[in-house]
Parts: sequence; C-alpha cells; structure tokens
Amino acid sequence: MAIFTKSALFGFAVVFSVFTGAANAQLSPNFYSTSCPNLGTIVRSGMASAVQTEKRMGASILRLFFHDCFVNGCDGSILLDDTPTFTGEKNAGPNANSARGFEVIDAIKKQVEASCKATVSCADILALAARDGVSLLGGPTWSVPLGRKDSRTASQSAANANLPGPGSSLATLISMFGSKNLSPRDMTALSGAHTVGQARCTTFRSRIYTERNINGTFAALRQRTCPRTGGDSALAPFDVQTADGFDNAYYQNLVAQRGLLHSDQELFNGGSQDALVRQYSNSPVQFSADFVSAMLKMGGLLPSSGTPTEVRLKCSKAN
Ligand code: HEM
Ligand SMILES: *[C@@H]1O[C@H](CO)[C@@H](O)[C@H](O)[C@H]1NC(C)=O
Repeated sequence: MAIFTKSALFGFAVVFSVFTGAANAQLSPNFYSTSCPNLGTIVRSGMASAVQTEKRMGASILRLFFHDCFVNGCDGSILLDDTPTFTGEKNAGPNANSARGFEVIDAIKKQVEASCKATVSCADILALAARDGVSLLGGPTWSVPLGRKDSRTASQSAANANLPGPGSSLATLISMFGSKNLSPRDMTALSGAHTVGQARCTTFRSRIYTERNINGTFAALRQRTCPRTGGDSALAPFDVQTADGFDNAYYQNLVAQRGLLHSDQELFNGGSQDALVRQYSNSPVQFSADFVSAMLKMGGLLPSSGTPTEVRLKCSKAN
C-alpha cells in the first residue's frame, strides 16, 4: 500500500466502487494477514491478561462492542473522549457510569501500534476483543471479519436514541434491533450475552419491587443489596449460578422468572420469543450457533457511505 501515491490510491478506490457499487468495504478475516500478522495473538493475550485480572472484563468488552455497533455502525465511536467540538458517547445515558473497559482497549491498541504502525482500526480491535472475551469466559469462538475503519467523531444523541433501555418492552426491543436489520431471533440470541456481567441496582430496582412475573426467592435475594432508595450503583450478577461463565443459563433463568432486567424477562413473558427462549434453555449448541451468527451480523453494521473515517492512532482520540 505504502508504494501507491495518494492519487493512485484514489483512482483505485474510484474504480473499485464503480465495479462493486458497494456502499461499504467488504470485511474479511484475512484483512490484516500480511500487514499485521500477529494481530490476533496481540489482542488475545491482552484480553487473556485482562480477564485473568477480572473476569467481568470479558463481559464489559462484549458490551462495548454492542454499544459501538448500534451507534452509526461498528466504527470505534464509543471509544472517543468528548472534545470541544463534539459531545461523544461515553457519557450518554446507557454508557455513563456503566460502560467500562476503555483502558483495556487503549492498552491493546498501544501494543498493536508497536507491532503494526497506523494499520489496524480501533473498531477491528474491539471486534476481536469482544470475541476473545466471550471465548475466554467459556463461550463459543469464531473468525472475525475485519477491515472496519474508525469514525472521526461520536454522537451522544445518537447513542441515547439507538441503545435500548432496561425498561424496554418486547415490541420496542424487536423494533430497535429490526432497525439494525437484526431479526427477533438475532435479538433474543444476542441478549444471551446477559449470561455474564453485572447490572446496577438502578437498572432493575423497579422490577424487583413491583413486578409480578418474578420468582419471589430471587426478588428477595436481589432486594437485599438493592434497597428501595439509595444504593443505585450496587451491582448484581445477571446470572447468579455461573456469573462469569458464558453459557445458556440466561435462558434457564428466564424460564424460571429470574430475569434481572424488565427487558430480559420480556423475552419470556407469554410473547413471540417464548418458544425460542425455551429452546435455548435446553440447547447450548443451538444458542451458541445463533449467538455467533447474530454477532457476525451485528459486527457487519458499518457507518453509512460517505462518512469520513480513518485508522485512529489512539482509540480515545481522532487523528
Ligand atoms: C436487548 C436489549 C438490551 C438491553 C435493554 C440491555 C441493557 C443492559 C443494562 C441496563 C445493563 C447493565 C448496565 C449497568 O447497570 O451498568 C447491561 C449490561 C450488559 N449488557 Fe446489555 N442490554 C441489551 C442487549 C445486550 C447485547 C445485545 C449485548 C451483547 C451482545 C449485551 C451485553 C451486556 C453485557 C455483557 C453486560 C454486562 C456488562 C458488565 O458487566 O460490565 N447487552 N445491559
Ligand atoms: C422460586 O425459586 C425457588 C428456588 O430458589 C423455588 O424453590 C420456588 O419454587 C420458586 N417459586 C416459584 C413460585 O416458582
């Protein structure tokens, strides 16, 4: 690449787009195989040490990827700090005091830069790290298509508008995922991510004190550390039995009316996803297969064509 002049590159890009008519570049698992052959190893070892230090980090990075992809595509936008010219996504409602793991991605990026300068996007590093987080916690693994570019800006209002909240109804969840071309089945499979990680009291308080479709023993257990008032930040695991294990226990919990968030229990509350939830609760293999297929679809969400992008040198800051 470095041998092409700027205009030669531009000419190539024009010819390419004329021939393909593609709005977005094609992603490929081999995208960096010559330009950064050790990428997979670097990301994997960064995630392995982060997860060894704190298991929850596997969950936190997976959530960062979801929150990145749902806001103008998987473009590393969630990783940007606010600047004088834009208010970014880190402090949007769904992320403030909640999204975490930024320092893990920043550190992996530093290692990647040391090995392959100005080559690998932060968006791709996040996609690989999320996959590694899942597999390090005992979940499935898969090959990650690469070649995403990083945004130059981020939007707090887009994050607030595009990310579902814990009080969402089934209809809202289906429609918010549908607007990303993800089916109800994809949505239900992706929600299985809530088999790992934790949530703050403020996100499930109203469920454990006011809802009727909740196991009484479970509600009482959660009430012990999530008071009616105060303690907003007190954490509870999504899945009590295997808190740090990526398995299908999330669905077994839903069938037992032990969903932590209102939005979780919406997937098994007499509606269209009940049968699928039951199926996943009985079949870890079916869940894994559908989760991987939905992660690939979600990971394929890209910024709309014409959006200025780059390979960022630091994930928290545009070049
Ligand atoms: C279906 C709609 C979804 C809603 C309403 C939702 C909402 C939430 C909420 C409220 C929390 C707790 C945040 C906090 O208290 O700080 C959370 C955590 C989490 N979410 Fe979701 N989520 C959804 C889908 C997803 C998807 C699709 C993924 C990934 C594929 C995901 C992965 C996670 C993970 C791993 C955590 C735990 C993070 C940690 O412990 O740091 N969620 N989610
Ligand atoms: C709630 O869960 C407990 C197990 O922890 C079980 O013994 C009880 O029967 C459940 N309650 C209902 C109403 O299903």
